[in-house]
Amino acid sequence: MADKYELRRFRAVAKDSADYAQGTAWLRGVGIGFYDEPRKEDFMDKIMAMYLVDNREMTGVYQADGVAAHSLAPDVPVATFATLRKDLNIGYGRQLEAHLVTAVTVRGTHRRQGLLRRMMTEDLAAAKADGVALAALTASEASIYGRFGYGVATFERSVKVDTGPRFRLHHVPVGSVEIADRKVLLELAPEVFGRVHGAMPGSISRQEAYRLRSAGMLGRDGSEDEAIRCALHYDAAGTVDGYVAYKFAGWDTKPYTMEIVDLVAATDAAYLELWQFLGSIDLVDRISWQDAPVDDPLTWALEDPRCVESSDHRDMLWLRILDPARVLGARRYSADGTLVLAVRDSLGFAAGTFALTVSGGEATVTSAPEAEPDLTLDVADLGSIYLGAVCPVTLKAAGRIAEHAAGAALTARLMFAVERSPHCLTHF
Ligand SMILES: CC(C)(COP(=O)(O)OP(=O)(O)OC[C@H]1O[C@@H](n2cnc3c(N)ncnc32)[C@H](O)[C@@H]1OP(=O)(O)O)[C@@H](O)C(=O)NCCC(=O)NCCS
Repeated sequence: MADKYELRRFRAVAKDSADYAQGTAWLRGVGIGFYDEPRKEDFMDKIMAMYLVDNREMTGVYQADGVAAHSLAPDVPVATFATLRKDLNIGYGRQLEAHLVTAVTVRGTHRRQGLLRRMMTEDLAAAKADGVALAALTASEASIYGRFGYGVATFERSVKVDTGPRFRLHHVPVGSVEIADRKVLLELAPEVFGRVHGAMPGSISRQEAYRLRSAGMLGRDGSEDEAIRCALHYDAAGTVDGYVAYKFAGWDTKPYTMEIVDLVAATDAAYLELWQFLGSIDLVDRISWQDAPVDDPLTWALEDPRCVESSDHRDMLWLRILDPARVLGARRYSADGTLVLAVRDSLGFAAGTFALTVSGGEATVTSAPEAEPDLTLDVADLGSIYLGAVCPVTLKAAGRIAEHAAGAALTARLMFAVERSPHCLTHF
């Protein structure tokens, strides 16, 4: 394979750089992999400008021995992969830098030849050598990434909320909501999201595209999306502490529906009051949201919880731990205790036995190769339990975690719990 394919890594660059075309050809490769319509040049320019802000690294795999006559040009990669670094909230407001993997494609005619395995293993090795303690991704199919040590760590669901006469919330407003021009979100969205990110376990800081999309500056085809509307929530002192960007689904969609594009609320009151606002929109009987939390205060605040119709409960964030001692030591824990964890890792990055001792919520972690483990687990399962969203007792019941000391899985559950249900509002 080494002769047939050449793997190149490069960063996003400004438009006047000689290497710019390499990036746009790479984008074409991604579009082919995800069956997207070809993008116009000005859309590609916008994407490359965002990549520059995010300092993305792109990986392309090229046919080293030339391409077949009449097939796609040699500068369009047959496989793509990209990474960027953002912060992950690991509970109790603590942050850990995460290596985010995205844009993974292998052209159909070059599949099952080990290209994904090569891109992934080389990238994880480079990230580990660079001192990053964990990687993360979101997956198109749930069967691909476990073999590389990724475990599901957060979930999300789609909801349709009936905002007809049944919709009544038990909540007395403490602030207020006003309609605003969508473009105010260019500035406000990062500020409000920053507060949410600091308070929400499982949150990942957002890439540049988010504020542009929420403000309607980046529609599906790259042009402005005039249909995006925006409402802001103000706390009692008049500070904006939440917003919703939303869009009417059109008069052909029945019941008449508003789609939430982005709903970000820094306080419990802001969240419920934005829902009260959404529930009060005239002529509309349904609000839909693709990125809703699984454990949602809305359901519990409604007089009739069945107003929320939930579907497509799905995995969201996958974590791949590269340095167990560091990630375990970085967390604050909900309960004191001691656990000896034997971690398996078929790729070798994170394997070992680690003694985790928690006192006053703070951890001490030591490598303990001679110690008797309380639990044996794959690195993917450690990724799953790390943010407290997946229960170790359930993983034990599923035969994924082996418990050697009675009650150790429950101890792990109590220790790894976080202060509120994890939810990641950032797709990448
Ligand atoms: C998924 C995809 C990237 C795999 O690429 P690939 O180069 O064919 O994969 P490899 O040849 O390196 O295979 C790596 C391993 O993954 C397995 N695998 C690959 N695709 C898989 C899939 N869709 N489902 C389950 N397993 C898969 C292979 O069997 C192989 O297993 P092994 O190494 O344990 O034997 C490719 O099929 C693709 O581009 N799909 C469409 C886009 C997509 O879904 N991207 C993922 C975005 S999150």
